[in-house]
Order: sequence, then C-alpha cells, then structure tokens
Amino acid sequence: MAFLCSLDEPAQVLIAGASRGIGAALVERLLRMPEVGCVHAVARSWSDQQGAGERLHHYAVDLTEPAQLQTLVDKLQASTPRLHLVINCAGFLHQPDGQQPEKALQQIELAALEHSFRINAFAPILLAQALLPMLRGKHRCSFASLSARVGSIGDNHLGGWYAYRASKAAQNMLLRTFAIEWRRMNRNGCCLLLHPGTTDTDLSKPFQGRVPEGKLFTADFVAERLLAVIAEHGPQDSGQFYAWDGQPIPW
Ligand SMILES: NC(=O)c1ccc[n+]([C@@H]2O[C@H](COP(=O)([O-])OP(=O)(O)OC[C@H]3O[C@@H](n4cnc5c(N)ncnc54)[C@H](OP(=O)(O)O)[C@@H]3O)[C@@H](O)[C@H]2O)c1
Repeated sequence: MAFLCSLDEPAQVLIAGASRGIGAALVERLLRMPEVGCVHAVARSWSDQQGAGERLHHYAVDLTEPAQLQTLVDKLQASTPRLHLVINCAGFLHQPDGQQPEKALQQIELAALEHSFRINAFAPILLAQALLPMLRGKHRCSFASLSARVGSIGDNHLGGWYAYRASKAAQNMLLRTFAIEWRRMNRNGCCLLLHPGTTDTDLSKPFQGRVPEGKLFTADFVAERLLAVIAEHGPQDSGQFYAWDGQPIPW
C-alpha cells in the first residue's frame, strides 16, 4: 500500500470486526505486507484456533461499551504511540434466530432500531473518539469504516431495511462530522466511508439468493479492493463515501 510504504516507521494498523468476514480477510492481507509492523485485531470474542503472534495482537472488545474501548486504548498505547491505518468492519444486519431487516413499517421495533444503531452508528464514532490520542499529530493516517450503499439516502429507491439503512446513514453523518474536526488535529488524516459490495459472509448469507451472477464477492477480493481504495485517497478526500470500485456514492 503506497502510503504505508512511505512511512518512516513500520505501519501500525487496527482492524475492528476482525474475527470473521471482511475484517478477517483484511487482517490476512495486511499480515502479508512487509510495510506493516503490527495488526491490532479487535472483536468481541476470539477462538483458540485464531492464534495471535508477534505481528498480530488480538483484543476482545465490545465496541459499544466505552469502558472496554478505554481499556483497549490503554493496551494499544503501551505498544505504540500512534496508528497509521484503522478500518472498522464491525456491523450488524440480522441475528440468525432473532432480529431481521424490516420489510414493512409494521415490523419496526424500538429495541431493534436501538440495537442496529448501537453497532452500525454509535460504535464507529466511539471508536474514533477513543483512538483520537493515537490519530492526532502530523503523521499520515487513514481511518476507514464500512458503511453500505443502502445507507445512501439519495440512492434509496427500494425502501425496506429501516434500521440497517438508517443506522448506516447515521454513521455516515457522524464520521463526516468527525472528518471535519479531525482535519484540525491532523492535516494528514483521511476519514473514509466505504461500501464493500455484496460479500459472501455471515452477514449477507440469508440474502444472497437475489444477488445477480458475478456480483457476490469473496471477502479476500473485497479486502484487496478496499485497501486499494484507501491507498488511492488521501487527506484531500477526507469525509467522502466510496464503493469498492472507487466510485463515489451519493449521501
Ligand atoms: N457482507 C456484505 O455483503 C456487506 C455489504 C455491505 C456492507 N457491509 C458492511 O461491511 C461490514 C463487515 O461486514 P461482514 O459481512 O464482514 O460482517 P460479519 O461477517 O458479520 O463480521 C462482523 C464482524 O464484526 C464483529 N462485531 C460485531 N459486533 C461487534 C461489536 N459490538 N464489537 C466488536 N466487534 C463486533 C464480529 O465479531 P464478533 O461477533 O466476535 O464480535 C465480526 O468480526 C459491516 O459493517 C457490514 O454492514 C457488508
């Protein structure tokens, strides 16, 4: 990744939502890059088979719990003063035997709206807030968070999926606002919202039937594309929303 290669120190990378899906694929790719010094991987739980190592650190953190985020930052700061790349991949669409995306107004429930907003909207901005001491300064740094095209208000022609759409739209606004403030604390920072495309993971599994031929991506392909989009955009693009192919998405 060009901007990580140009650093004068090994890159410190944090991936949130790293135990499965797109986040896990990003970790695998990043560990193959010699310019990456360490990947700090965050999820609520890790299995014994998911071994950490010298260049891979695991942290069990619920991103919706501010006290756990503070403990995470204390541990990170014990190993590095700054982060060069943060990618938040944690997100929520459905529970296997529980909450499902709404097809109609009558299916909206307050608890379900709150649950989606906690993970999809509140967790990313709380993560940015907690990590700020490691993002501010003069160093080149990108903070990317996975959104979704269905979170675009301008692109909403189909309706449905109230909680998911609205919580992703809320994330977009929260991180766009963060991008403006962050510019004053690090003019080399770049905050991006990214749409990965429909990707074969647990999150999309029940909804893959309607995906057109050739439009269901592997997590590894998406990881490669997202790293390319992040590499192509710098501080001048901070606060923008892009798809996996580099195309801008309307708010
Ligand atoms: N897959 C798609 O087709 C698609 C399409 C558009 C957008 N997206 C977005 O892309 C992102 C990644 O999706 P994915 O398909 O890779 O999802 P996934 O396979 O369900 O993985 C989600 C990851 O987030 C972690 N996570 C969930 N809640 C968390 C919390 N409260 N605290 C910490 N970690 C948490 C999960 O680990 P634990 O459960 O162990 O915590 C897991 O590592 C999401 O934001 C999703 O909305 C995906």
